[in-house]
Amino acid sequence: MKAIQTDRIVIVGAGLGALYAALLLAPRPVVIISPEQLGEGASSAWAQGGVAAAMDSADSAQSHAADTVKAGDGTVDPKVADLVTQEAREHVLKLTALGTPFDRTENGDYVMSREAAHSFARVVRVKGDQAGAEIMAALIDEVRQTPTIQVLEGTMALDLEVTDSHVTGIAIQSADNLRSAPVMLRANAVLMAGGGSGGLYAVTTNPPRIRGQVIGLAARAGAVIADAEFVQFHPTALDVGEDPSPLASEALRGEGATLINNRGERFMQSVHPDAELAPRDVVAREIFAQSQAGLRPMLDTRDVLGEAIKTEFPAVAKACARNNIDPAREPIPVAAAAHYHMGGIRTDTEGRASLGNLWVCGEASSTGLHGANRLASNGLLEALVFARICATNIAAYVPERASPQINITFEDGSTPPDAKAVAELRQTMTAHVGVVRDASSLKRALRKIAELEATFGASVSFLNMTATATLIAASALCREESRGAHERSDFPDRLPGDGQRSHFTLKDALTLRAKICEETS
Ligand code: SIN
Repeated sequence: MKAIQTDRIVIVGAGLGALYAALLLAPRPVVIISPEQLGEGASSAWAQGGVAAAMDSADSAQSHAADTVKAGDGTVDPKVADLVTQEAREHVLKLTALGTPFDRTENGDYVMSREAAHSFARVVRVKGDQAGAEIMAALIDEVRQTPTIQVLEGTMALDLEVTDSHVTGIAIQSADNLRSAPVMLRANAVLMAGGGSGGLYAVTTNPPRIRGQVIGLAARAGAVIADAEFVQFHPTALDVGEDPSPLASEALRGEGATLINNRGERFMQSVHPDAELAPRDVVAREIFAQSQAGLRPMLDTRDVLGEAIKTEFPAVAKACARNNIDPAREPIPVAAAAHYHMGGIRTDTEGRASLGNLWVCGEASSTGLHGANRLASNGLLEALVFARICATNIAAYVPERASPQINITFEDGSTPPDAKAVAELRQTMTAHVGVVRDASSLKRALRKIAELEATFGASVSFLNMTATATLIAASALCREESRGAHERSDFPDRLPGDGQRSHFTLKDALTLRAKICEETS
């Protein structure tokens, strides 16, 4: 394999965590591995809600931390919740200084959205549902003006090179030509700041390329993966047959929008005292149950917003218009869709993975903040806080040296993933590792993943997807309880006592998978 030595810090991914870390590391030279042009294809840019932060003087970081712990259903690390919520304000101020046009009241205070399971309206927003896009636009502007940041647009990570449990290089290929042979970048530090796993599911709100590859490639290199079974399903993805499914922000329910079914029943009132603002896992399960029962759940914004939805939530209004839905006159059909992976590459409070020279932030990480159910709008916040932590830690441990720009030309030499196999993998995850699981569906999924891998495993990119899929299904099979977003119909109760986080290596998961495959032969 062609190899290039660099003293740049390699940052994988181009979402909020990646760009923020790159800016905090400046003037230290970094190179960003970005599959698309900056701003395209990153989950952060699609985030509608905003950043959760106790900005109101009547609110507090302690209250935010307590809500985070409660929503996480017994598996949040309270130390991490304290750490993240205490830094929230400082990062919102920094994003403001970088040019993010947060919505303001007439007095100049931040406009705060209310989202589920928050005891306070504490989500800073931009033009209703434009927070992700606007924050990213401000950071991209800054990145483009920072000469020490090199962005390799149109490249993606495939593999890690590991020597004595330390990462020594990362193999990348052209994202525009999946037949291209990988090129090894040998570097002193790698920061994984890529996306999660939503796109491993057939019904997802995640951008098309986000299919668990970052977690998968770290797992294939031996990194410990935590809480893989905890996949968050968003209750209100538009049920309009688009892939990915457009999102209808939870902030709409914060404004008072209701959930009804095709009988006109407001069904959440009998499920939870907080009705539509119950924790996200509770609402997603009920939406799923209504869909399964053929009751066609819908989000009704007519009374509370009327025509104003078109100016106050432009992304939602645009998705409705594209699908001939007028939300001022009719309710919006919705379904539960894979949205966020609480699990990921296990990190400590310095952002370090279990392999040396490897740091992780953002959705690909599992820091212990989210537990079994992420509190709304804590995703962007966690990316900011851990990007800062990773950048500080890398700067403290990795020697700074000037480094020239990297020039790469790719030649053919890889097997691309088979499109039909990817579609089958995604269908399998939605059908058998979805909102409600049981042992027999999870075993079926593991057998199917093994079969697909045996047939199509010549593609390393596909192996990264099946690695993550295997980890999700195997850890879901081992967790014999229902907790947060992990609902087992064969184990409907929570185990007594404090919840335990799960820790798996891919080797453990593959051993389990092989055993399940043998059971039927
Ligand atoms: C939403 O706006 O409903 C999504 C926010 C989030 O996932 O945190």
